[in-house]
Amino acid sequence: MRITLSVIKADVGGYVGHSDSHPDVLAKAGDCLSRAKKEGLLVDYHVTKCGDDLELIMTHQQGEDSEKIHKLAWDTFVGCTEVAKKLKLHGAGQDLLSDAFSGNVKGMGPGLSEVEIEERGAETLIVLMADKTSSGAWNMPLYKMFADPFNTIGLVIASNMHAGFDFEVHDVKEHKKITFRAPEEIYDMLVFIGAPSRYMIKAVYHRETKEIAAVSSTQRLALIAGRYVGKDDPVCIVRSQGKFPAVGEILEPFAAPILVEGWMRGSHMGPLMPVSIHDSTPSRFDGPPRVVAVGFQLSGGKLIGPRDMFADKSFNLARHQANEMADLMRRHGPFEPHRLPLEEMEYTTMPEVTKKLEERFTDL
Ligand code: 13P
Ligand code: 13P
Ligand code: MG
Ligand code: MG
Repeated sequence: MRITLSVIKADVGGYVGHSDSHPDVLAKAGDCLSRAKKEGLLVDYHVTKCGDDLELIMTHQQGEDSEKIHKLAWDTFVGCTEVAKKLKLHGAGQDLLSDAFSGNVKGMGPGLSEVEIEERGAETLIVLMADKTSSGAWNMPLYKMFADPFNTIGLVIASNMHAGFDFEVHDVKEHKKITFRAPEEIYDMLVFIGAPSRYMIKAVYHRETKEIAAVSSTQRLALIAGRYVGKDDPVCIVRSQGKFPAVGEILEPFAAPILVEGWMRGSHMGPLMPVSIHDSTPSRFDGPPRVVAVGFQLSGGKLIGPRDMFADKSFNLARHQANEMADLMRRHGPFEPHRLPLEEMEYTTMPEVTKKLEERFTDL
């Protein structure tokens, strides 16, 4: 059975500030998608949140880039924005960068990750969602899952994974893409994906079968809007088991928190803390950044789940470490490397302040 999984997300208003989503907004999204399921457009859906981001997880048979599905998501965000406006939530409609839908949510603000697949005998899927971070945040985790034998032992001892994976990498500034073969080309690939604000892993494919293994959202709000409007807060779909990494191999990278960009006003580096959905409530200095993971088994397109994967106690130590790292970063206050490097500050106050002081800068 061909089935498409579309994960489309937007921040349509924060409760309180940028720290969480309001239950009425989630309920409204549930109403919209429930209607679409009754009408037969969706096979199934699950509405959830990561911090202040509303996450629509949908299965259907319309294929990728379907205007009907994208319009459903857009109309749902518009409807939820109305609820957010009534409640005067913070930044209501924040991520909807356009007034009118024009066929596809790409480039309009919402984040998008879609895969069309032939449902396997057992189709295990993990949906990763993050808040207070930017799209490149998946680079290191995806690298570890699909190219690092110290993370994924299946690359070494599972014959159906041993040939490796292909990585499609996007240069989001120059709008170019390239595919790297792992393991042979990992050193070349790391030159680029080690700079995650510009080079992002868009998709990963099985080397032998060419099947899609993972797909991430690479929308960069600041590049679309040309100014700071909130962080991308990306999503990523990863297929699991069989010829793909085991569930535990997909979650393992998050056991060792790394620093990502996007904390406070989208302008700071901070640790990516794996948490349950319930704990995706970034409060300290609007953070630190969070990642949640929901797991499903697909059955005839039905989403059997979710399981809240980071609710597990085995991530307690990672959370503790992330909090320690948060202290260390906060110590720097307005200084780099807590504050983002200059190029990223282009989308904040930097241009205004530079302009204001232009005439006071004299030659050395
Ligand atoms: P969001 O991108 O999650 O809305 O966060 C914005 C922000 O500036 C938090 O400090
Ligand atoms: P406001 O200026 O809208 O309060 O937002 C600050 C902030 O949280 C950055 O998004
Ligand atoms: Mg917000
Ligand atoms: Mg957010």
